[in-house]
Amino acid sequence: MSATLPELPYAYDGLEPYISRQIMELHHKKHHQTYVNALNAAEAAYAKASSPKERIALQAALKFNGGGHINHSLFWKNLAPSNKEGKGHGGKIADGPLKEAIVAKWGSVDVFIKEFNTATAGIQGSGWGWVGLNPQDKRLEIVTTANQDPLLTHVPIIGVDIWEHAFYLQYLNVKVDYLAAIWNVIDFQEAEKRYLEGTGGSKL
Ligand SMILES: [Fe+2]
Repeated sequence: MSATLPELPYAYDGLEPYISRQIMELHHKKHHQTYVNALNAAEAAYAKASSPKERIALQAALKFNGGGHINHSLFWKNLAPSNKEGKGHGGKIADGPLKEAIVAKWGSVDVFIKEFNTATAGIQGSGWGWVGLNPQDKRLEIVTTANQDPLLTHVPIIGVDIWEHAFYLQYLNVKVDYLAAIWNVIDFQEAEKRYLEGTGGSKL
């Protein structure tokens, strides 16, 4: 079963003015498609490999491109057109279990965003910033991963792509401006859905 590029759940210009159409088109049609193609090529080569040595040699490609496909598929779904722009529900966090968990952990949504942005801006090189659900104590934590490593230690609730391809065409090298802007298009409804799935439907 081959990996395929998922459709975006909004138009390429749907996240403007926070993420430009140009970024979204390139990011989805070129970057994500490249991970999908390379993952399928690596999977096909793995299926044909006849020795452990050949299979081991393919593992870096499987991890990088498989992670790229998993991470971007999550990322598109955790964004939505901005509520502030009257285009959708992006950036709006309603009262409910997710907001309660955020406030319980960080004191307020604003403090949570500030801490997330500080931790994520500190990633050296390319990577991802995450809000993850710790499967042991069911609490939210801010974590980062390098390159295209998928989040395996936590249930991913919100993921933010910190590769330059995600922001450079609009924000140049100013990663903190991209991070400040992206909260206007975070889909907290999707995040809450993942949170409820991760907690088994009940808040702890
Ligand atoms: Fe990306």
